[in-house]
Amino acid sequence: ALAALAPRDLDSVRVVVSAGGTREPLDPVRFLGNRSSGRQGLALARAAAERGATVRVVAAHLEDPAPSHLDVRAVSTAAELETAMAEESADADVVIMAAAVADYRPARIESNKLKKSGGSGMSIDLVQNPDILRGLVTARDAAGSRRLIVGFAAETGDDAHSVVEYGQAKLASKGCDLLVVNEVGAHKTFGTDTNAVTILGKDSGTLAVVTEQAKSQVAHAVLDVVAEQLHRSDP
Ligand code: CTP
Ligand code: CA
Repeated sequence: ALAALAPRDLDSVRVVVSAGGTREPLDPVRFLGNRSSGRQGLALARAAAERGATVRVVAAHLEDPAPSHLDVRAVSTAAELETAMAEESADADVVIMAAAVADYRPARIESNKLKKSGGSGMSIDLVQNPDILRGLVTARDAAGSRRLIVGFAAETGDDAHSVVEYGQAKLASKGCDLLVVNEVGAHKTFGTDTNAVTILGKDSGTLAVVTEQAKSQVAHAVLDVVAEQLHRSDP
């Protein structure tokens, strides 16, 4: 029923959405991961398809299976996600980085399962992963493309700065066009079916405040802003 009500304002628009959370292997059986379920990313993909877009999902360990009508490319690590996003976004009109990317990965991947040794602790050397979102912005600018690039950020405010202030700073440092910010707390967002977000625009501050609702509704609110920005920049 929702599909019938969705506006067809993304007809023939090519959209690439990353979803889920990357896993960084430590040895053949262990990894560093995160709790992203992939639900918000999948909701964006379905909503974009409902609105007429041609959608590609780059999926890192989704908790729920993707609906069969979606075109999915599976990845695991941040490195794989980076390669996949570079390839899939080359001819895209809109790129949405909803995936949770591991900031660090183990410096070495042991080829054999790590054994415990001695009775004391252990430490793991980590190296930083590339910033995929920033890389997509750089590639877009180098190509002289008008591709719209959307980032996500989960933030907690503190005494010094609000969630939105941290979001504005992140938007500026990433160089993306839109940043969808959600406030994370004890039981917010991860693994739930609802979300509440603030959508920030480059040079334009807060574009929309979306109160807590189903991730499918949040997805449509994000795409309302995306569609408006696309049509605003129509030649
Ligand atoms: N992101 C990315 N590559 C990374 C890390 C993050 O592309 N290596 C993307 C995420 O998919 C998201 C956006 O950047 O769209 C913001 O992610 P976030 O983790 O909030 O930003 P970071 O730059 O990693 O900053 P922080 O230190 O707050 O984690
Ligand atoms: Ca991060």
